Amino acid sequence: MLFKEKPIIVANWKMNPINSKEAKELLDLYIKTINFNNINLVVAPPVIYLELLKTLLISSKVNNIYLSSQNICSEYVGAFTGEISVGMVKDVGCKYTIIGHSERRQYYQETNELIAKKCLTALNSKLIPIVCVGETKQQLEQGEMEVKSILNKQLKFILDDYANQSVDKNLEFLIAYEPVWAIGSGLSADASYINNICGYIREAITNATDSKINVKILYGGSVNKDNFKSIFALPNINGALIGGGSLIPSEFATICNNC
Ligand code: PGA
Repeated sequence: MLFKEKPIIVANWKMNPINSKEAKELLDLYIKTINFNNINLVVAPPVIYLELLKTLLISSKVNNIYLSSQNICSEYVGAFTGEISVGMVKDVGCKYTIIGHSERRQYYQETNELIAKKCLTALNSKLIPIVCVGETKQQLEQGEMEVKSILNKQLKFILDDYANQSVDKNLEFLIAYEPVWAIGSGLSADASYINNICGYIREAITNATDSKINVKILYGGSVNKDNFKSIFALPNINGALIGGGSLIPSEFATICNNC
């Protein structure tokens, strides 16, 4: 066992696969090839496939597999064309939601303030947030101090709101450390670097909330069958967020079955 406690592995399908038939096949392959005794698996498909996958999961009777949306609206209901509310994703069976993925920050101009608001909306509705943070390549090149300062800013908005609001502090809260330069690039961060940064994130969270919040830290960014062992053995990591690798069922099963 690489992890001391049962890890959380999140499969972020992004805008894949191309139709519902392939989405069903992908989930079917997960169910057939993954041993769910040692992991909690969270599948984050495009929202349009959630209803189908929920039905499949109910009929498969597999335990330890949960659904997540890849995003939510910061508002609860109303005139927000094109948005999906927290209530809607819960209604189709989601227990989790990804918030603030770097692709949302980069392509849809999501700010730290908006991400913090989404996070509160999720927590207020008892939907577990998986909040993504991480530095760009340019920020990495400016050195570790700069990276930590960026992460601090990304975390601060969330933690300030979290500490000041009457949300249930016992609810799980996941932070995914995803260096932007490692996402989809095939370049994973060095193991000791990941451990150091995740340790920093954990400390920043403990200091900011002044309480023992139930936070788990995931690593994401080009996790694959060749590098997962060295990453999963790190003491500061509780799981992983996997994009490209989760679309290759045999590779994904190898990772999940050797945690
Ligand atoms: P990747 O994506 O595993 O393809 O790098 C991770 C992510 O974006 O969450």
